[in-house]
Amino acid sequence: LPNSDQIETVDPIPGGVSSDVFLVKLQGEAICVKFAVEQLRVEADWHASLQRSEAEYRWLMFVQERFPNSVPATFGYGAGSSGIAMEYLPAELYPNWKTELLGGAIDRGFAKQVGERLAGIHAASAAQPGLRERFANQADFEALRLEPYIRFTAARYPALAPRLNRLADDLAAARIALVHGDVSPKNILCGPKGPVFIDAECAVFGDPAFDAAFCLNHLLIKAIHMREHAAALQGAAQALWRGYSAGIDWEDPAEVEARLAGLLPALMLARVDGKSPLEYLSDAAAQKVRERALQLLSRPEDSAAPLADMLDPDR
Ligand SMILES: Nc1ncnc2c1ncn2[C@@H]1O[C@H](COP(=O)(O)OP(=O)(O)O)[C@@H](O)[C@H]1O
Ligand SMILES: [Mg+2]
Repeated sequence: LPNSDQIETVDPIPGGVSSDVFLVKLQGEAICVKFAVEQLRVEADWHASLQRSEAEYRWLMFVQERFPNSVPATFGYGAGSSGIAMEYLPAELYPNWKTELLGGAIDRGFAKQVGERLAGIHAASAAQPGLRERFANQADFEALRLEPYIRFTAARYPALAPRLNRLADDLAAARIALVHGDVSPKNILCGPKGPVFIDAECAVFGDPAFDAAFCLNHLLIKAIHMREHAAALQGAAQALWRGYSAGIDWEDPAEVEARLAGLLPALMLARVDGKSPLEYLSDAAAQKVRERALQLLSRPEDSAAPLADMLDPDR
């Protein structure tokens, strides 16, 4: 390990919502140090346990062993400080996928790789004994995901509340595979050897359909937000699903698809009327997302629209 006099600079990296992230430059090297913060930087008053840092570290370690190119290498974890030291991935070599997408660089091949890798992680974890206990982070998943997104939205739509709360209850009860919990394009870097996943604070042994739905949701909302790129974004969503579904080996893919189709409109609605609405949506785009989600949710629960229709609304 370096001596303290080898540290040249310590600079904050902007953009963290639930953490302080720093770039530490050592002689000839750079590392990234991330600390979880107790109060999230969102408009709503949102506190979260610092335990989630350990969940993230464990998730990174799990993936690193199987897919070393898909996560930053970790150097250590400080339980007392909720800090993780990891490899620094410079934006010049690892552009953020969200930045790429919002800039109109929409690569279906990359989206497919995201799906394939995500399914690879889910498949490896479903087959690995002991993870259920190691990632029994259901309380944090409830506080960080189910309550702010799904249950908060349910409270605003009383007619949909039973259905939305049932989705949340099912997610809380599932013990199928290791879920990342925040697979949004902003937490995926476009590395020279494929997608690199960061920010696994919500990791839990739960329902893998959540990760796939969460990421597809971001692509579909961006298709509404960026009308001129709608076809490309829908194409990327379809490619992601193709890549993902081909890798489902832990259960019948049709079951994952059915849960995903149930979740997707709920997550859509949550990103406009939940506790953490997407910052980039105009009022008009938010209204479109809301209408689309409500239209999908107006169908009876047992005859949800097929996923293919959601990924290609013009079909
Ligand atoms: N290993 C890393 N190398 C380079 N930049 C990173 C790394 N980890 C995080 N960052 C930067 O810090 C930002 C916030 O980190 P992230 O883990 O996503 O935390 P948060 O939970 O606050 O979103 C990322 O969007 C990215 O720009
Ligand atoms: Mg993040």
